[in-house]
Amino acid sequence: MIEKVFELIKEEEKRQRDTLMLIPSENYASKEVREAVGSVLMNKYSEGYPGKRYYQGNKIIDEIEALGVERAKKLFNVPYANVQPYSGSPANSEVLFALVTCGGNKMPKDKIMGMQLSAGGHLTHGHSDITFSGKYFKSVQFGLDEKGFLDYRLIEYLAKKEKPKLMFIGTTAYPLAFNWKKFAEIADSIGAWLIADISHVVGLIIAGAYPSPIPYAHIVTTTTHKTLRGPRGAMILVTEKGIKRDHELPVKIDRSVFPGMQGGPHNNTTAGIAVALEEASKTSFKNYGKQVAKNAKILADELKRGGLKLVAEGTESHLMVVDFRQQELSGNVVAEALEVAGIVVNKNSVPNDHMPPFYPSGIRLGTPAVTTRGMKEKEMKQIARWIIKVIEHIEVYKLPRNEKARSTFMKAYKQKTAQDKFLLKVAQEVKDLCHKFPVP
Ligand SMILES: Cc1ncc(COP(=O)(O)O)c(C=O)c1O
Repeated sequence: MIEKVFELIKEEEKRQRDTLMLIPSENYASKEVREAVGSVLMNKYSEGYPGKRYYQGNKIIDEIEALGVERAKKLFNVPYANVQPYSGSPANSEVLFALVTCGGNKMPKDKIMGMQLSAGGHLTHGHSDITFSGKYFKSVQFGLDEKGFLDYRLIEYLAKKEKPKLMFIGTTAYPLAFNWKKFAEIADSIGAWLIADISHVVGLIIAGAYPSPIPYAHIVTTTTHKTLRGPRGAMILVTEKGIKRDHELPVKIDRSVFPGMQGGPHNNTTAGIAVALEEASKTSFKNYGKQVAKNAKILADELKRGGLKLVAEGTESHLMVVDFRQQELSGNVVAEALEVAGIVVNKNSVPNDHMPPFYPSGIRLGTPAVTTRGMKEKEMKQIARWIIKVIEHIEVYKLPRNEKARSTFMKAYKQKTAQDKFLLKVAQEVKDLCHKFPVP
């Protein structure tokens, strides 16, 4: 009998092959990256850093980690990189604990500033007291205007009034390009650290399809599994500007990662990151990053042409957020129907959403994964047509206003849509398209 887990992996392989992965934080890692991650490197303990380990037997691991660090430094043109963070959230916590004081040991909490979660910020950028970043630090958050645009004048006003010690700037859902120069001017004017979290857009930055914060931020953090197409992990980069302000930043970050927050590095992941960095240094990757942005623009334009309202009226990145408030539709209702049709997106809050995050008024979608499969303009137009048709098909289903009735409604709705002939027909068409674009 085949081990149940491998049966399930086969099923997941099929799902990833036969559907359109439009969740903007997802991607297909190459076979080489997956081979490194599944390798015997996972058997080894290596607490410490190359040349300074707490265990014997790390000669080869040292070479692998040093290679990863060198490749990161070269690709991003930075003087220092740490490739050990287990993932994006630990990386961000490591930066915070290295630079600002939390409320422990009777020390006063330092103030940090970031973008609201509902505006597209991340949980680790100071989101309320349900996260470490909102709980252990004083947190000031900024949002978007009614149309979904950043208001830099308001951010500047807030920063000057609140004087945070650190600004964590990055996004999971803001579709437009950041003005890093402006953020740096604001941070510099109050002497705050500027940390750029480029987890979502890193691949586009490498391709020159999105502005780079490297000249402006002191530290840059990024996950490695989104547009970079590596394994699940993260990196912390210190820029020239960061070193100029504090030449001890590399030591502070190293210590904050280990032993501050983590134990032994995941050497198999480190190797996967090193492989992904090499892949990302190729011209083919730059073409990929450019195509991701191009595809997103086409998809966004087509959705708008089909009558949908996009947050910030479009995209300058790999992602877009559709706002369904005018149709009084729930993101849950739309996302469920799209999944039955083989189009996988996620429900998402829209700026100033009156609905709670579990039943938000929008969906978020992006093009990194479908672009990895080789899809281009023609396919984006087809995908937009499917999305519009599916939305028209389910537009009559309105989430109850009564909060208690919502989960029963969604349960019945899911059962109904799972059998829906129209949605299943679209799913077959999607599958046919997917088969023309093999996954790595
Ligand atoms: C901007 C940003 N930062 C940090 C993270 C956290 O990464 P992880 O899920 O690997 O902890 C994410 C993940 O979605 C993100 O989008």
